Amino acid sequence: MHTAVLKDVWKSYSNTHVLRGVNLVVNEADVIGIVGRSGAGKTTLIKLLGLLDRPNSGSLTVLGRDVGKLSDSEASKLRLKEIGIIPQTFNLIPHLTVLENVELPLYLLGFKKSVREAAALELLKKFELQHLASRYPHELSSGEQQRILAIRAFINKPKLVLADEPTAYLDAENSNTVYEVFKELINEFKSTVIITATGPDDILVSCRKYLLFKGVLKEF
Ligand SMILES: Nc1ncnc2c1ncn2[C@@H]1O[C@H](COP(=O)(O)OP(=O)(O)OP(=O)(O)O)[C@@H](O)[C@H]1O
Ligand SMILES: [Mg+2]
Repeated sequence: MHTAVLKDVWKSYSNTHVLRGVNLVVNEADVIGIVGRSGAGKTTLIKLLGLLDRPNSGSLTVLGRDVGKLSDSEASKLRLKEIGIIPQTFNLIPHLTVLENVELPLYLLGFKKSVREAAALELLKKFELQHLASRYPHELSSGEQQRILAIRAFINKPKLVLADEPTAYLDAENSNTVYEVFKELINEFKSTVIITATGPDDILVSCRKYLLFKGVLKEF
């Protein structure tokens, strides 16, 4: 089964045509990098793949489900269970601790507190970040925040992880630590991963890369 298939996907906002016939086949365990300059439509594409928005036309299949045929609540359920998202903005919840942030997807799935906490702590420990568990997001560096976001995205053992510019605004060293965390998470959970960036970035080294330009995707 393909993890995602996009056929001639168009997405417009009022009269701006952002995606103009995007085609993409994502296979299980693929690690794909999508590069495009600011405004190219990377976040727009991530939102479609994450079932947070719908295309204007074309067909989009995610995890074997034809998205056009899913109700909003079916789409939300599929997202919660099977998809992990690292959003570009509105990421960690400011009034929740790091531990509570990492637990959040499991909370939304209805797991009880003890199970959530144990799973979140285990992942934090794996990356030697347990000392951050009781801090709030504003008490973390940008690099730490991005590593916590990566961990949160994998906590529900998702089949598909979408990371929207996870290394934006980080220096090379921090970018590299985020990359190392991703590598281990991908290795452990065998998730299919799609990562966006505005240009060449360490995090994309082992990705199959596509350029998003003038509304279409081309492998390069
Ligand atoms: N909700 C919206 N309403 C209207 N226009 C939008 C909306 N969201 C995005 N756009 C426009 O669509 C285009 C693509 O935006 P998008 O956020 O997908 O780009 P991006 O590649 O993620 O850019 P960046 O690297 O800066 O995050 C931009 O021109 C943007 O202004
Ligand atoms: Mg964006």
